Amino acid sequence: QEDVFKKLVSHCKEYGFVFPSSDIYDGLGAVYDYGQMGVELKNNIKKYWWDSMVLLHENIVGLDSAIFMHPTIWKASGHVDAFNDPLIDNKDSKKRYRADVLIEDQLAKYDDKIDKEVAKAAKRFGESFDEAQYRSTNGRVLDNQAKRDALHARFAKALNDGNLDDLRQIIVDEEIACPISGTKNWTEVRQFNLMFSTEMGSTSDGAMKVYLRPETAQGIFVNYLNVQKTGRMKIPFGIAQIGKAFRNEIVARQFIFRMREFEQMEMQFFVKPGTELDWFKQWKEIRLKWHKSLGFGDDKYRYHDHDKLAHYANAATDIEFLMPFGFKEVEGIHSRTNFDLSQHEKFSGKSIKYFDPELNDSYTPYVVETSIGVDRMFLSIMSASFCEEQLESGESRVVLKLPAALAPVKLAVMPLVKKDGLPEKAREIIDDLKFHFNCQYDEKDSIGKRYRRQDAIGTPYCVTVDHQTLEDNCVTLRNRDTMQQERVAISELNNIIADRVSI
Ligand code: GAP
Repeated sequence: QEDVFKKLVSHCKEYGFVFPSSDIYDGLGAVYDYGQMGVELKNNIKKYWWDSMVLLHENIVGLDSAIFMHPTIWKASGHVDAFNDPLIDNKDSKKRYRADVLIEDQLAKYDDKIDKEVAKAAKRFGESFDEAQYRSTNGRVLDNQAKRDALHARFAKALNDGNLDDLRQIIVDEEIACPISGTKNWTEVRQFNLMFSTEMGSTSDGAMKVYLRPETAQGIFVNYLNVQKTGRMKIPFGIAQIGKAFRNEIVARQFIFRMREFEQMEMQFFVKPGTELDWFKQWKEIRLKWHKSLGFGDDKYRYHDHDKLAHYANAATDIEFLMPFGFKEVEGIHSRTNFDLSQHEKFSGKSIKYFDPELNDSYTPYVVETSIGVDRMFLSIMSASFCEEQLESGESRVVLKLPAALAPVKLAVMPLVKKDGLPEKAREIIDDLKFHFNCQYDEKDSIGKRYRRQDAIGTPYCVTVDHQTLEDNCVTLRNRDTMQQERVAISELNNIIADRVSI
């Protein structure tokens, strides 16, 4: 699986999906640029989300708030005081790590060992893995299972209590070594704030410290009454937004999974107090359905309900996706109570209550949010679509089986040869269709090579113009996944493609 992931990362670079930022300067940690194919896929993901939220829901409207916001907003939201990661330094390598991630890695090592023990037991007793696991975990305690459970309980308690000394003690007791120096010479654990800051204004004494937003949500909270009043919105209603967010992540690993500059698609849903847990349940279901509608297979998703809740939440769950490196969070759904709005009311000194015409009374709404990372969604789609296929001819091909609606290029048009008026005919077809779909013209190399290039960027359909076309105005239409070809009239192309590339 790790191997597949490496191949995916180089495929992303080779075909213009994702480049390391500042590539010619050897890159910038955890920052990436989207290339000519990546930006199309990303735009299509954003449109797919936006349409499902804003277009299909009468009571959800959009917003585009600024990245810079009044600094007091981050005081009110709790980010200045509490948006921290626990960090630890190795004294020999001088490398810095997230203490919680070091412990999570240790837990993963136990999981690996347990899997190996189970596999060994299965082999010895002629059982399936599941049978051996059932018997082992219910009867004989596996050597490593007890150690893992004890570590997990201790870790959860330390996190829950916010006890930094305990976190360090776990690292010492587990004899976790620095991956660089190999030594266990650790400093104490300190809290580190994840927000980037800069200065606004030109004079040094008059300049104001401002933050790059670590989530888009606060732009929605501070605008909710503007939108509600000017849009004559009635509770329950939602505000959706897509935009950049910034976090000074210390553990920057796994490509675009954890970035320092990333994009979020968030929707805050404002509801009557007391109804939030019903809405939370509804949004949980709606969002999972949205993910599954892409057709990658239901077994690729699972919920991870949070036991430990943030101070502002009364329910929270993640939708996890099976990445090449395991199940990982792609989207968070949180019931945020009235925490944020109440805090902004307190810190701004302005009343931002909603007047409910049905109750003839005012209250501070409760909020259920759905928050998904565009980049993580991008990574999940790329990992699920990336295939290496062995063909009957003995050849192999790399194909991106992207859902057609998300594919960067919908149609490639290729003249069989570069003469006899075929290029001109191909251009004519593109000129007709380019207002409806992203089309690509390709006349270089053999048809086989051209098909492979389109497979590699996930183009669902290729059209070939041959000599016969000049006589009957028909072309060959090739399907990316089945590689089957059919003869269709040029006049029908628009309808056929439109029908097949819509969700
Ligand atoms: N407003 C709620 C919020 O921001 P979060 O769980 O911190 O919640 C929501 O983030 C989503 O944003 C995550 O599920 C993930 O998809 C994405 N995300 C968060 N940090 C990220 C990072 N460093 N790089 C890429 N995506 C990230």
